[in-house]
Amino acid sequence: MPLGYLDDHMSIFEDFRHNVLMMLSVFDPIFDINSTLSIPDKREFGNITTNIAFRLKDTLKKSPIAIANEFATAAKPNGLVSKIEAKNGYINFFINNEAYINAILEGATHEDYGSSDVGANKVVVFDYSSPNIAKPFGVAHLRSTIIGDSLSKCYNFLGYKCVRINYLGDWGTQFGKLMEGYKRWGDINKIKNNPLEESMKLYVKFNEEAEKDPELDNYAREWFKKLELHDKEAVELWSLFKTASINYFNKIYKLLKVEFDSIDGESMYGRGNSSEAVLKTLEKLSITKIESDNSIIIDLEGYGLGKTIIQKNDGSTIYMLRDILAAIDRQKRYMFDRSVYVVGSDQNLHFKQLFKTLELMGNKWATNCTHVEFGLINISGKKMSTRKGRIVLLEDVLKQSIDRVEGIINKREEHTKASDMARIANSVGIGAIKFAILSHERRSTIDFDWDRILDFNGDTGPYIQYAYARACKLLEKNNVIYKKIDVSILAEHEIDLIYEIGEFNNIIKKSANEFQISVLAKYLIVLSRLFSKFYELSPINDVSTNAKLKELRLLIVYSFSVVLKNGLMLLGMDAINSM
Ligand code: ARG
Repeated sequence: MPLGYLDDHMSIFEDFRHNVLMMLSVFDPIFDINSTLSIPDKREFGNITTNIAFRLKDTLKKSPIAIANEFATAAKPNGLVSKIEAKNGYINFFINNEAYINAILEGATHEDYGSSDVGANKVVVFDYSSPNIAKPFGVAHLRSTIIGDSLSKCYNFLGYKCVRINYLGDWGTQFGKLMEGYKRWGDINKIKNNPLEESMKLYVKFNEEAEKDPELDNYAREWFKKLELHDKEAVELWSLFKTASINYFNKIYKLLKVEFDSIDGESMYGRGNSSEAVLKTLEKLSITKIESDNSIIIDLEGYGLGKTIIQKNDGSTIYMLRDILAAIDRQKRYMFDRSVYVVGSDQNLHFKQLFKTLELMGNKWATNCTHVEFGLINISGKKMSTRKGRIVLLEDVLKQSIDRVEGIINKREEHTKASDMARIANSVGIGAIKFAILSHERRSTIDFDWDRILDFNGDTGPYIQYAYARACKLLEKNNVIYKKIDVSILAEHEIDLIYEIGEFNNIIKKSANEFQISVLAKYLIVLSRLFSKFYELSPINDVSTNAKLKELRLLIVYSFSVVLKNGLMLLGMDAINSM
């Protein structure tokens, strides 16, 4: 495994940590000293602190305060450790600022700052978006699309090879419903003119009617069976509906600027030789059972995972069986190191069952499959559902965001060129929605509220895009190159900002490891707030700012702009130079 590249400042920090450990080794405890170290949240408590004195109080038969004080008095700063202080029993170590700050600023003037090659030669598969044909693109699909896109960008930035799969829901009984609905109430001309809306209407009508007359469901099942057996009429109808939906989805993807490497959907994994083979393997393992109605189920009660159907009594495949086939196919094709499914929490059990079944089938790689679950989005307090037809067309939501941003920009004091307006409103409108989704812990429920997500001063997309534009404005006509700086002339709030810039790569790694983009989104807010403060307190074009200070501040602005540009890119948002 490659070691992964460390920015200079991160290796300096590592060396500093090593220094600290060496100093603390005079205690020679029986436990691991490393486990006593932590990074304080306030800089006045140093860059690394240890609670070792508390852990040694019984062995040394002294109070933590006494232990810490004695150590701090006796120890001599050396190497990268510039100061040692005891406070309330904690021992705080301060890094040599000169070396550290220079290394951060030097690193952050490189365009690829924050990237690394820890993931070199490793493949990660991302299954995301995955909407269903002939159904609206729901908010859950939106959340999946945006999280999946951003995660794959982070992994890519860390050097992994990513395969982005849109696993379309283009197979299953819903097609039977659609076909039966079409046969009863459909009109070929209407479908041809307005395929998506018509097919959704048919789907909704079918569900309503089937509630009154359950017999309809049997007809639908019959149609799906025909489709799996490649009946000509069924296949023709299916591809009509599928093309219409894909055309519609592509409009959304274009607005979102989201791309995929493959759009192999469920229809790739329907009834056939492979499904038969999997069923046989499962049978041999005796985890399958034939129900009284002749359908086949997998019994995972022994693992606390219940039972789940994998084949219908008429021989048709089921979502679960298709997912088993798809997982195996992905491993064969891409030899992934990790396979990630970005899908709502309501499918928790499904993925637990899927991974367990794959494992029982003897696939060692099953443990490398991860369900990256996420919660609901409520619009005006209501959960949205497609079955009953209470649908919000997502394209409309996205366009509404763009329109609203245009309204807000028009009302501001700053002047935006008319020729730039459409482009800016587009970037900010879409960015606001993406940021709202990405800045929430992914398992949490999002209460969608226009005023909140479009607040230019809130913890929002517009806020960080605006911070970036302000930085660009300051940098206009100024060429910045890194030169060693005199740390003694830095103000506290400037040091705060630089230290935060130094955290960028750690933050990306944390976001990727935990599949939690909110870590990165929140970091960009904190960073932009520090920048706002800097903007206020550290004027650049002021008469009171001498040449040396100006050079230094421009260097800080430039480093900040590099982090924001890369950060925005990772969130799938546009970094725009003016707003
Ligand atoms: N199409 C499914 C849905 O809308 C999501 C598919 C997720 N991916 C998967 N491999 N099961 O609920």
